[in-house]
Amino acid sequence: MIPYSLRLSRWLLLGCCLFVSELLQAQNAPQKLRFEYGDIRLGTGVTQPRLSWQLANTHPGVRQTAYQILVASSPEKLAQNEADLWDSGKVKTSQSVYVDYQGKSLESRQRYFWKVQTWDEKGTASGWSSADWWEMGLLDKKEWKADWIGMAGIIGEPPRSTQARKDFSVKNNLVKARIYATGLGDYVLKINNQKVGDQLLAPGWTDYLKKVYYQTYDVTSLLKSGENQLDAFLGNGWWSGGLGWGGGFHRYSQGPLRLLCQLELTYADGSTEVIASNKDWKIRLSPVIYDAMYHGEHYDARLEAKGTDADGWVTPVVLNDAKNQTTLFGPNKDPNVGEKADIFDMKKMEVVAQEAPPIRVTETKKAVTVTEPKPGHFVFDFGQNMAGIVHLSIPKATYSQEVVLHFAELLHEDGTVAQENLRSAKSTDRYICKSNGEAEEWEPMFLYHGFRYVEVVGFPGKPTVENVVAKVIHTDFQPIGEFSASEEILNKIYSNAKWTLKSNALSIPTDCPQRDERLGWMGDAQIFVASSCYLMDINSFWAKYARDIADSQHPSGYVYDVNPKMVVGGPSKPAWGDATLIVPWTTYEFFGDKRILEKNYESMKAWVEYMNTHTSTKKAGIYYFSDPDEKWFGYGDWVPVVASPGKPIGGAYQIYSNTLLAKAAHVLGKTKEAETYAALAKQYTTKYNELYFKDNNYEGKTQAANLMPLSFGIVPEKLKPVIAKNVADDVKAHQDHLTTGFIASQQILPRLTDYGYNDLAYKVATQKTYPSWGYMAENGATTMWELWNSDKERPEGMNSRNHFAYGSVIEWYFRYLAGVEPIEPGFKTFRIAPKPPKGLNRVNFSYQSLYGPIVSNWERKDGKLILNVTIPPNTVADLELPLQAGQSASLEGKKLKKGVSKLQPGSYQILIQ
Ligand code: BGC
Repeated sequence: MIPYSLRLSRWLLLGCCLFVSELLQAQNAPQKLRFEYGDIRLGTGVTQPRLSWQLANTHPGVRQTAYQILVASSPEKLAQNEADLWDSGKVKTSQSVYVDYQGKSLESRQRYFWKVQTWDEKGTASGWSSADWWEMGLLDKKEWKADWIGMAGIIGEPPRSTQARKDFSVKNNLVKARIYATGLGDYVLKINNQKVGDQLLAPGWTDYLKKVYYQTYDVTSLLKSGENQLDAFLGNGWWSGGLGWGGGFHRYSQGPLRLLCQLELTYADGSTEVIASNKDWKIRLSPVIYDAMYHGEHYDARLEAKGTDADGWVTPVVLNDAKNQTTLFGPNKDPNVGEKADIFDMKKMEVVAQEAPPIRVTETKKAVTVTEPKPGHFVFDFGQNMAGIVHLSIPKATYSQEVVLHFAELLHEDGTVAQENLRSAKSTDRYICKSNGEAEEWEPMFLYHGFRYVEVVGFPGKPTVENVVAKVIHTDFQPIGEFSASEEILNKIYSNAKWTLKSNALSIPTDCPQRDERLGWMGDAQIFVASSCYLMDINSFWAKYARDIADSQHPSGYVYDVNPKMVVGGPSKPAWGDATLIVPWTTYEFFGDKRILEKNYESMKAWVEYMNTHTSTKKAGIYYFSDPDEKWFGYGDWVPVVASPGKPIGGAYQIYSNTLLAKAAHVLGKTKEAETYAALAKQYTTKYNELYFKDNNYEGKTQAANLMPLSFGIVPEKLKPVIAKNVADDVKAHQDHLTTGFIASQQILPRLTDYGYNDLAYKVATQKTYPSWGYMAENGATTMWELWNSDKERPEGMNSRNHFAYGSVIEWYFRYLAGVEPIEPGFKTFRIAPKPPKGLNRVNFSYQSLYGPIVSNWERKDGKLILNVTIPPNTVADLELPLQAGQSASLEGKKLKKGVSKLQPGSYQILIQ
């Protein structure tokens, strides 16, 4: 018999071993579990969701050979491995991204708990990941018990903001509370005076004639047992605030503003209660006395509803100041001020669960300087152009005092803000104080501004940097790419481009954030989609925008220049309309999201078919756009230094779009269509060359004229060096400067590098004299200018300082300087092929792919080039080295053979000498 003490220590040893092996397993367990796009897991409407994860195990060469997913209805069941909703079983595959859920059909409101384990290339199991969850929204229209409510008669250009309220009681033992809500235009909810959620400008911008998103909020912690109060503030946003130049004449509606809101309470005993917007809700005009996206928000704090008495809706103070003319709640109530909400019939409106992350505050900024160029006019300089709002804090208010905030990108010579380039946008917020001597705080609810400077007038006392704080806002995607180089001008341009992306992603990709425009211009979107995918985890943003395009598409197949459709008529112009193909295809390449192609294939095809069947060039039968007088052929290479003919750009993009459609058809298994569109692309290519190619040059002979066919595979193989030389010669003839506009500027550096002019590309990239990216940066730009010469152009015209298009230069930094690009969609296999130009000593690039971090860092040292790379688990990289004649490369002491080397997961150092 074994003595007790020995038995005990054996058990302890066994226990320890088990513990250690579990710990090791846990360390190797998959991580970064991701539901769909990784940004919305509460209140999703996706009924066939996809699950992704990353392998934590980083031993060299690690690959996944199988996975098993468990999905359960409670965390307890999941912990017991009781997968009552789905057990995938052991599935032999390396797929770890966008794996389809195949369990029981999903039900409204239910929360799903899941975990995953994987097996590596040696067949070793990883152990289970920690649990993650997602929760469904309302999947059936019938589950909406709420009515659309508003205040009948309150219409206008824009209509006045309103405020709805519901008092209700909550019983003891509340375990769960959800709000499902949306509005037309924007809405802000408060429970017991605390803001619900952290989103801004909800419900976001969609084609409101068709569809609006609803949001889901977990409000359990905001409620208390007993009496509670829910307030809804309704403002214009994009729906009725006025859009388009000339003051914003275009709007989806003139009001009244509307709300759809359903609060659902679940108690410990399983009983539920629903508090839904209906005619019993109270409604009145809100303290926001004016709000229009371009012009500003005006808030009269004296009009705030007071009191929480049984009525909870005390008529605001009687005002007698004629000056501000805000006496809407005087002793004689405005006849329009109803006590009870009115109901609106909105049966045709599609109410869809939100599909992309909301707009949020992503950063706050204090002014770097505050000046007083005129007595009482304080100018705050935030040092950075941006899109956002400001938070105003007044330490000691004066009753009825109006504080005015003027927003601008620029200053006049006298130091006051210059709003001329905002055109008709007034960009001015106003706040009227409600107290005497008390501290007051305010920020707008229904708009944003594009600004670097704010001029504050009427502030009681002298404001400090604490009193006017800038909040940067944009659609809340996470950064995934980071770049830096030894040449400062590249870092400055990179920063400018990144800030411009952040400033122009507010529910949709906009052209600019400041003037009377801020629209979803498609040319701008397609030019920046690839750069944005290198920088941000932005898959869902583009998936949503692809739907916006399709939602507004004309029945004949054409799309519009601006989406959601607004202001500009169709059909879309070349390079603008083609965002229909370029946005989904590029997003698919970067994230491997096949569904973006599935969902949008018909829309992509319809636009291509429109072009293919509306061929204007009688002689050759390829597409160009024209006005009825045959004088204007679209936007062409928009705002270039040297204009290029517009007609060929139509054919070039038609060919490119046919090519992309063929590729998409191939991915989706539509083999016949893939062949058809590939053949059409070929046929149009022949026609293009017949029409536009002459004397070894393309019509117009500009850089753009040669770049577009070179980029879209139109140039016959043997002529490619000739055409590339045309571009290079022209660049040299302009003393190493580009002459391109929005469209061709994306192509110039990549093509120069592709065809042996990398050092010339680098000269153009770091050029500091006009026209160049460096010129902007050297002349005070903190975001990309709309024009190469924005500093010299007239101030009052089309001259934004925050337009993304020229920001597309950074795509070359990632694809060529760092040399990283996807081969298989989503970086399952990818290329590392850095192209170090003469004069640049160091580049650092890291990218958080869906498989894990990719790194490509290189540095010149002691005559050697040292390259450090990281290949994430479950991927393979093709390494292509920049070997000069007579050079050789070694990886950890072993000589590498010439050509492409396959690199398995791991981190490596390569020496080139
Ligand atoms: C916008 C551009 C847009 C263009 C169309 C401008 O007003 O700001 O960015 O693409 O019009 O040519």
